[in-house]
Amino acid sequence: MNVLGALDPKNEIEQYDLLPRYEKFLATDRFFLEQCGAPELSSPHLLMVGSGPLPISSYVFVSRFGYKVTNVDTSSEALETGKEILEHAGIFQAHQHASGAEVQVGANVTSVIVAALAGTNKEEKLAIIKNIAGQLQPGGRISVRYGTGIRKLFYPDCVLSDAECEEYGIRRIGSFEPPRDYMNAIGVYEKCT
Ligand SMILES: C[S@@+](CC[C@H](N)C(=O)[O-])C[C@H]1O[C@@H](n2cnc3c(N)ncnc32)[C@H](O)[C@@H]1O
Repeated sequence: MNVLGALDPKNEIEQYDLLPRYEKFLATDRFFLEQCGAPELSSPHLLMVGSGPLPISSYVFVSRFGYKVTNVDTSSEALETGKEILEHAGIFQAHQHASGAEVQVGANVTSVIVAALAGTNKEEKLAIIKNIAGQLQPGGRISVRYGTGIRKLFYPDCVLSDAECEEYGIRRIGSFEPPRDYMNAIGVYEKCT
């Protein structure tokens, strides 16, 4: 895929052969972010922590699910490249150069995804979750991607204990342990009232 060099950048993304797999995986994220007793979202707004240089998650949440998205990344290069790719595809969203462990969460954010590689170990991922949980509105949800089984060789593990959930004022909504063809697992948490 060469979005930046393409004559029709949006079509270039649409033809990406892994897009259907991403869409299926992200539908699971969306299910947990919106279902299982979640309050109805009239204007869903996703904070994508670790949006990266190829922000497929952001692309799908905007183009398929109708979300507003704020992209966050510690790497200015990844953020700038991601912004350029999205804008070439006609998607204009907010971008913040920050760590998830320090980012300010807007009052309009309803949903957060913490990318599998946002945080290189459980401690760093917990710092991100703690910061976000401290600012999220009650009922807001955080989807944390993490490695499980053999995938821990690629992605850090991050399953929160009951004590960690209590400390951060969140509760576990559900989790998705992936079949072989998906890269990482998902744990979804809700900010308590
Ligand atoms: C491989 S990429 C993106 C993932 C992918 N685009 C997706 O849809 O899940 C992971 C990104 O996380 C960023 N990152 C790592 N630690 C972070 C942190 N503490 N806060 C925000 N971004 C972080 C990295 O700079 C990198 O660009």
